[in-house]
Amino acid sequence: MGACATVALILAAVGIGAGTAMHVHAQTEARQEQPQSAAASDAAIPADDGIGHDGWNPHPVHLQRPAVAPLSAMAQLGKLIFYDPSLSASGKMSCASCHSPQRAYGPPNALSVQLGGPSLKLQGVRTPPSLMYLYRQPNFSIGPDQADADAPVDLTLAAAQVSGAARAQKTAGVAPAAPALVPQGGLFWDGRADTLQSQAYGPLLDHAEMANGSIDEAAEKIERSPYRAQFEQLFGPGIFKNRRLLLSEALFAVARYQVEEPSFHPYTSKYDYWLEGKARLTPAELQGLRVFNDSKKANCAGCHLSQPSKDGQPPMFTDYQYEALGVPRNRRIAANRNPRYFDMGVCGPYRSDLATQTQYCGMFLTPTLRNAATREAFFHNGVYRTLEEVIDFYNLRDIDPAKVYPRDAHGRILQYDDLPAKYRANIDKQDAPFDRKRGDEPAMSKDEIADLIAFLKTLNDGYSPQ
Ligand code: HEC
Ligand code: HEC
Repeated sequence: MGACATVALILAAVGIGAGTAMHVHAQTEARQEQPQSAAASDAAIPADDGIGHDGWNPHPVHLQRPAVAPLSAMAQLGKLIFYDPSLSASGKMSCASCHSPQRAYGPPNALSVQLGGPSLKLQGVRTPPSLMYLYRQPNFSIGPDQADADAPVDLTLAAAQVSGAARAQKTAGVAPAAPALVPQGGLFWDGRADTLQSQAYGPLLDHAEMANGSIDEAAEKIERSPYRAQFEQLFGPGIFKNRRLLLSEALFAVARYQVEEPSFHPYTSKYDYWLEGKARLTPAELQGLRVFNDSKKANCAGCHLSQPSKDGQPPMFTDYQYEALGVPRNRRIAANRNPRYFDMGVCGPYRSDLATQTQYCGMFLTPTLRNAATREAFFHNGVYRTLEEVIDFYNLRDIDPAKVYPRDAHGRILQYDDLPAKYRANIDKQDAPFDRKRGDEPAMSKDEIADLIAFLKTLNDGYSPQ
């Protein structure tokens, strides 16, 4: 199903028809019942935006959470592997080193990129995403037809067919008129892996991460591991004769762990409980949700979808699509000292199959915003450390670029400095809040930014409703 059709479905489900004006502002007074809502005061409240005024969801839904069951033997083995530092060249680094269970399986610290390699001194080039909720990540594809996402697709052909076609505008709450012809789905910031199993070869073999020189080397470490016996039990004693198979089974186990272990997808955020009518948002959080969904202003929900699906799937806060936002170059990343090096996401250099499809240069996966407020490194290059910085970027990128980008020796603002000039047309300048020009009013006021951040914090898991 095309992403646009999905959007329409989702909106129909919550009673906000596609095309109805969500932001027709009736001049109703907001009645504040909780006093600590300084930032949320005196905003015009839309007549019925599906959000209500009193902090309770006026249209509660029943969310489908994945069934909780004890881990299978395969997943239990995967857990041992996930936390085993002996599988790294340094002997000190496991999956959990960069995907910390205390931090929503995201980076454990405020470094833009993590250090790894044999002596834990090599710097990575991208920030580790959260591993939560990936069980719902679709495979990588291009164009609106996801019907046969399981069949192998000729990506170059698909890209060539849609190149030149106009890109659909993304407006929160409104289904696009034309199909969205952008890459979607996949794992990693550039979508180069489809399954959690194939993904896991990446860190095991990456010289700046767990740094095994080869599949053989990684497999030998498993042969020497304390859970060797479990491998024999699950796969038979012959498993150690075929190292490729051994590693493939090991990584399948890690994938099963991420799929089965409930802490990877608990849906216990305040917002989830609000959707179900079990938690009440504060006035600031409620106003933040309104800003988040407002298609003319922040328009966050245009890409970070905030509504549950018709069948009760909780919202994932991503449309699984790729966008070029023109995030500034991160000068703390060593690779960026080379002025000719650019991390351009979908068109390379860490994937090469779409290198000739330059319309995708600069595009990165839209990440979920669930638990984003637990992070201290944001965007694919970890250039920002706080949500305030992230939102300033969205708010000021084009209207006041001097606040976002550095200047060169002649004092000129280096706008969009992390993408070669010839690809800058790929950068999104049509979707709000990016549809503004130099000197325009910002999409969000200071108060609205504070409210938006209050709302983003309701997406952290671990809330207990009364
Ligand atoms: C040195 C830090 C580091 C270690 C160790 C590490 N990862 Fe990662 N992980 C990353 C980074 C960085 C990315 C993003 C890479 C990219 O986009 O190219 C990532 C991406 C991922 C993704 C894709 C997430 C998404 O949203 O697309 C998965 C899944 C993953 N890692 C699982 C693992 C597993 C399983 C292990 C252990 C076998 C592991 N990682 C070890 C840093 C690490
Ligand atoms: C046009 C689509 C689009 C819109 C609109 C949009 N985002 Fe994003 N968002 C993205 C993409 C794509 C990325 C990743 C970009 C990158 O790393 O280069 C991202 C990344 C983020 C991140 C970083 C998450 C992480 O794990 O690093 C945050 C936080 C975020 N967005 C919040 C917002 C907020 C708040 C709004 C509204 C003000 C918003 N976004 C509007 C597409 C969008």
